[in-house]
Amino acid sequence: MASKLPQVGTTIFTVMSRRARELDALNLGQGFPDYDIDPRLTELVAAAMTAGHNQYAPMEGLLALRERIAAKLLAVYGLSVDPESEITITLGATEAIFSAVQAVIGAGDEAIAFDPAYDSYEPAVRLAGGRCVRLPLAQPGFRYDWERTRAALTERTRLVLFNSPHNPACTTATGADLDALAQLIHARDIVVLSDEVYEHVVFDGGRHISVLTHPGLAPRSFAVFSFGKTLHATGVRVGYCVAPPALTRELRKVHQFNTFSIAHPLQHAIAAYLAERPDCGRELAGFFQAKRDRLRRALSGSGFHLPPAQGTYFQLLDFSALAASDDADFAERLLTEARVATIPLAPFYASPQALPFVRLCIAKRDSTLDEAAVRLNAFAARLRKA
Ligand SMILES: Cc1ncc(COP(=O)(O)O)c(C=O)c1O
Repeated sequence: MASKLPQVGTTIFTVMSRRARELDALNLGQGFPDYDIDPRLTELVAAAMTAGHNQYAPMEGLLALRERIAAKLLAVYGLSVDPESEITITLGATEAIFSAVQAVIGAGDEAIAFDPAYDSYEPAVRLAGGRCVRLPLAQPGFRYDWERTRAALTERTRLVLFNSPHNPACTTATGADLDALAQLIHARDIVVLSDEVYEHVVFDGGRHISVLTHPGLAPRSFAVFSFGKTLHATGVRVGYCVAPPALTRELRKVHQFNTFSIAHPLQHAIAAYLAERPDCGRELAGFFQAKRDRLRRALSGSGFHLPPAQGTYFQLLDFSALAASDDADFAERLLTEARVATIPLAPFYASPQALPFVRLCIAKRDSTLDEAAVRLNAFAARLRKA
């Protein structure tokens, strides 16, 4: 049988996590916390199952949860969103991305994605029969080149995949970026899929600007979010998509035959958790900023350069002052010689860029970050001597 995705293997995240386990390395690769979730959430999940919420949930998601999400959108962004017609609960952000892409892209259509791009975007476009046009963000600093983007638009362009705060660049899009994007798609038959899973993780007093708050973008955007990130529980696999009613209707047509509906007890538990702790998202920036700063302090003087990280679960490590290898080789050396698993950026690019960065996940216990810094410092010292 001919593969529909011949170039897709097992993702770098899965491979690195498996090898980290095999080599007993510290895993700063895949983006998941290694600390416990709030025990109250565990209690609420158990309570939801005990209360009998164990059959199919409504296809579009539990209304109580969608109402909580609407309340959050009002409190955080001042938005009035209709939970009935504009919010859909999905199997993590991954399903929201997949279903939205299937809803929009048909055979021969094109979607624009900016490299380094999260790895699920292009396969979703290909499975829909479309072509993903990958545009590298400009160096230094992974900035958008809107003129180049304009030049890449064709009659077949239907979708722009946008991500802020950005994984793995750790940057946040500016208001000017959103204005430029809105201007670009204005008067064209193009929608935006905005991946905002790190909406709450913006550092140094910065503010996440959601496409939902942009008058030119909100009417033509799917915005995608993840409770895995917000609740430090990536295994919970509950996310959601916010979009105007016409886009939501199309999304749900795919969603109902893709996952149909999402774990019912988990939706009850999350709704109850948000009722008790409506502000839980607000704590995330400070929580992760402290971790980012801890790691940055511990690696200062190592010879690694740590570019500014404006947001996300991650921090990039620039190894150019210490080694001339490419990022995949360097990540391999870090894994086998320093016993720290990281993620190179090459898998996020359609065409390799020879960038001297590996990505570190900061959503880890302080003790994990401290031990990783000890290993990275020792490895850097060996490289400096070599
Ligand atoms: C940018 C980005 N989008 C989407 C996802 C997927 O989110 P979920 O785990 O909710 O499916 C991730 C997970 O790491 C991510 O980093």
